[in-house]
Amino acid sequence: MATRTVLTGIKPSGRPHLGNLLGAIRPALELARDPSLRALYFIADYHALTTQRDPRAYAELTRDVAATWIAFGLDPERVVIYRQSDIPEVFELSWILACFTPKGWMNKAHAYKACVQDNEEKGVADVDAGVDMGLYTYPVLMAADILLFDSDVVPVGKDQKQHVEIARDIAQRINHAYGRDLLVLPEPAIREDTATVVGLDGRKMSKSYDNTIPLMMPPKQLKKLCNRIVTDSSPPEAPKDPGTSSVFELYKQFASASEIEAMAARYRAGIGWGEAKGALFEVLEREVAGPRARYEELMADPGELDRILAEGARRARELARPVLERVRAGVGIAPPA
Ligand code: TRP
Repeated sequence: MATRTVLTGIKPSGRPHLGNLLGAIRPALELARDPSLRALYFIADYHALTTQRDPRAYAELTRDVAATWIAFGLDPERVVIYRQSDIPEVFELSWILACFTPKGWMNKAHAYKACVQDNEEKGVADVDAGVDMGLYTYPVLMAADILLFDSDVVPVGKDQKQHVEIARDIAQRINHAYGRDLLVLPEPAIREDTATVVGLDGRKMSKSYDNTIPLMMPPKQLKKLCNRIVTDSSPPEAPKDPGTSSVFELYKQFASASEIEAMAARYRAGIGWGEAKGALFEVLEREVAGPRARYEELMADPGELDRILAEGARRARELARPVLERVRAGVGIAPPA
């Protein structure tokens, strides 16, 4: 059976949290276990440059993401894990793709449109104010990430679906222009919102709402955060509806079926919020204790992480080079001297 390639990028934009674990890390690692798939998971550090302007942040953010994924079970022998910035071929392909990307497609990209709309709402005369070419052409760089590896499947959240579709459209345009299949057409694999995780304030857990529970925290801090989850002020003995409680909602994601059933009964009988939060902490701690130990080991030895990423980059470039050469030859640019 021909190997299919699954690829996804992770923006190093903050400390990975519970929402990332359920929404992205777990499903991606599960996919990677499929022996008929070749998995490439990379850290999209150059994409982060559209917003992350602290030069001291990159090394730490990158290691944090890599260590977290490895701690939760990514096997670097099986999955090619690398930093986008280590693959110069991405940026070369990005230019070729840009030459085939109609400007109008970028005008329709969500992130850009959101900026324009924001300016309009604020009455800013220049609707492009605050938009740089990094933000504007973000989808082209992402298309290069994807197309450079002949990716078949790209697992992403709903917010990134449009970007994968743009990658597919660009590939199709190039194939059409040259009358042959220079590029493989990728498919998005959209993670449905079944795994939307509630945050501390009851809204969706998201870095932009500042309501996350980071994955890697000392147990004491984890417990403190659990205690900060917003609840109503009903007294301990008051029966509680597990269906409307954020604490229960989170508990459900990490407890076994029988634990969930037993806990629901306790809610209905009346449980103090302190106790309910304590039970949540227990199941969370059970989940993260092992990975946290591995994470700490990795973070204490940056040399080991750097070696893993360097080896990933080496393997990734080996896969990328023939694809880039195929595209260069296709457009008529001779191979490098
Ligand atoms: N834009 C993606 C995000 O913000 C990250 C990303 C960059 C990506 N390149 C990619 C995802 C290629 C999938 C494939 O989450």
